Amino acid sequence: MNSLWLDFLTNDARVIHKWKHYFPIYERHFSRFVNRDVVFLEIGCGQGGSLQMWKRFLGPHARIVGIDINESCRDFEEDQISVRIGNQSDTAFLKTVIEEFGVPDIVLDDGSHYMGDLSATFDYLYPLLDRNTVYMVEDLHTAYWDEYEGGLRRAGSFIERCKHFIDELNADHARGELEPTEFTRTTQSMHVYDSIVAFEKGRHTAKFAPKTGRG
Ligand SMILES: C[S@@+](CC[C@H](N)C(=O)[O-])C[C@H]1O[C@@H](n2cnc3c(N)ncnc32)[C@H](O)[C@@H]1O
Repeated sequence: MNSLWLDFLTNDARVIHKWKHYFPIYERHFSRFVNRDVVFLEIGCGQGGSLQMWKRFLGPHARIVGIDINESCRDFEEDQISVRIGNQSDTAFLKTVIEEFGVPDIVLDDGSHYMGDLSATFDYLYPLLDRNTVYMVEDLHTAYWDEYEGGLRRAGSFIERCKHFIDELNADHARGELEPTEFTRTTQSMHVYDSIVAFEKGRHTAKFAPKTGRG
């Protein structure tokens, strides 16, 4: 039983609180990690249920690491689940987590949802991720909300940054108007959904457009 949606509906362990439409998105990006030896870093533990859901979904070899500012989240530790207490925008703290558990295969940012925090975490962690990893940010409706440092087309909101990332992803084709960056070289794709953006990492081989076939 590996359907996350079914897992969620039948959950009678710790509380999970998620938007319905997230479940197919999680499955789409996380299924390839099932039963592998992976590190899943969830930023924001809530009431602990999602940590347990990732453990059930990813299987017995996965290590689930939750980080949260709330001390009481330590209670969520169990076999395969570790919790570390700190602020997601504190890069010194993030560094200690990486040193202890290694570079994650999956990062899911479900923490404060403030634009400054999202960016600080992304700017530190994303460049560290290896090939074939996923960085997902959820609840990005906050990027449109003033109280989360967002707003429609507000400079610095994570959605506005993602619009620029689309250009950066395509920088090789910008005829010199945009210099390719490490993001260009190490990002295979970006997936934009209602309230979620997922980045799939991977280095590109030489880019060219061969023709095949006869005639
Ligand atoms: C939406 S809840 C997480 C829900 C959980 N992932 C789930 O799906 O059930 C957000 C969590 O982020 C934590 N949080 C808020 N600000 C934070 C920050 N700056 N750094 C780390 N965690 C933070 C809160 O304490 C809260 O537990």
